[in-house]
Amino acid sequence: MNKEEFYSMVEPRDDWSFSDIPRSETRELTHSYHLYPAKFIPQLARAFINEYTDEGGFIWDSFCGSGTLNLEALRTNRNSVGTDINPIAVLISRVKTTPLNPEKLEAYVEELVQNIEKKKVYSEQYYVRKGVLNGNLNVLKEWFSDESLLELGHILEYIKKMDYPKKYQEFGLCAFSSILKRSSYWLNSSVKSQKDPEKKPGEPPLYLRRQLRSMKKANKSLYEEIENTTTQIRIFRHNSKHHLPKSITKFDCIITSPPYVVSYDYSDIFRLSTYFLFYQEDYRKFRETFIGTPLIKKRQRSLDDTDPEAPIINSINDTRIKKGLTEYYMDMGGFFYKSRYHVKKDGQLIMVVGDTELRGVEIPNAYLLSRIAEMNGWFLENAYEREVPVKILPTSRDPLTGKFTSKKGGNYSERYEKEYILIFRVDSS
Ligand SMILES: C[S@@+](CC[C@H](N)C(=O)[O-])C[C@H]1O[C@@H](n2cnc3c(N)ncnc32)[C@H](O)[C@@H]1O
Repeated sequence: MNKEEFYSMVEPRDDWSFSDIPRSETRELTHSYHLYPAKFIPQLARAFINEYTDEGGFIWDSFCGSGTLNLEALRTNRNSVGTDINPIAVLISRVKTTPLNPEKLEAYVEELVQNIEKKKVYSEQYYVRKGVLNGNLNVLKEWFSDESLLELGHILEYIKKMDYPKKYQEFGLCAFSSILKRSSYWLNSSVKSQKDPEKKPGEPPLYLRRQLRSMKKANKSLYEEIENTTTQIRIFRHNSKHHLPKSITKFDCIITSPPYVVSYDYSDIFRLSTYFLFYQEDYRKFRETFIGTPLIKKRQRSLDDTDPEAPIINSINDTRIKKGLTEYYMDMGGFFYKSRYHVKKDGQLIMVVGDTELRGVEIPNAYLLSRIAEMNGWFLENAYEREVPVKILPTSRDPLTGKFTSKKGGNYSERYEKEYILIFRVDSS
């Protein structure tokens, strides 16, 4: 199928736009726990689940991010697995999909807040000795005032040392992660790691208290909604270029949205949380495992002339973008190839992707990904498009600051106003 044939088969799905949904409904229950860029809106995840799976079915979100799909699967009685390369995504998804007994959670939160308020904040050396601030100290010092850093060390020490089951500790860690940008010099609402020298961050204990209060409320609503459920969820860290563990039975369906081509840098957006909670000795190596990272890798891979993306990539002059795109499509090829072995014989893959434009060259990402999937064992059954309501996803982003903006043209790069939904089936021919 060529590009024209592909785009002519795309059918609009107005019912998947959800343009009339108020923002509050996209943040219902535990969906509000933690910010995460380019989340599914829950209503869309739920629409896919209802249309492509049956109750009791088994779904995999191979790029689960903040676990939107898994939470909706839980609410609609489907078993699911969520995997992501980002340890912060794994933490958020796990906490979001693990409702806790509200009374026990109340006791945990109370004890945590009391410890933080009543106990003394110690020195930097103390938190280094306790292993709360260690290898990460120099980087964290660039992002936090001395006072905030000690307060955060104090909070983290209690989250880690209080004697509660792991799921409570993870609840505390998720709340901690979600207040880090606010507590630092991170430029407000920026999706790039950029400082705002003018910023006067507030007090971490205050932010944490508020965060815990709102998470507690959301937890209670979810707990009541799914009381007595027998639905199973597993969330773990996994690189989708590799095979899943053999112990996992085959899925009915994969529903996912992969990282977009040269868009959000998921490998660095959570820099503060990663340094605090999952310190990486070799940060560069860590970033290289993410698909779509703009980091130029030492390993060089080159295009074959028969690759569908070759003519488009070769028409771009910027070598950095060229390399980024080459890596992206090769990595996605690896994902398609491996993932089909984890799906039942006539199982499906539902994937949300967007087209884009880079340095004046149109990148027909939806078309390229469908060709690459077809070369790796999947058959494209249908392709749909949905309008992305502007109030949910701002249309432009300043490439220098990464901040969203309403300005258009000039320096500003267009965000996706339209998304494609590709429906594949395992090719058993
Ligand atoms: C568009 S986001 C998914 C957002 C998700 N649908 C949600 O609702 O939050 C894409 C995700 O792909 C993850 N990712 C990037 N490279 C990966 C890899 N090699 N293996 C698994 N996940 C990866 C990123 O960490 C990011 O969370």
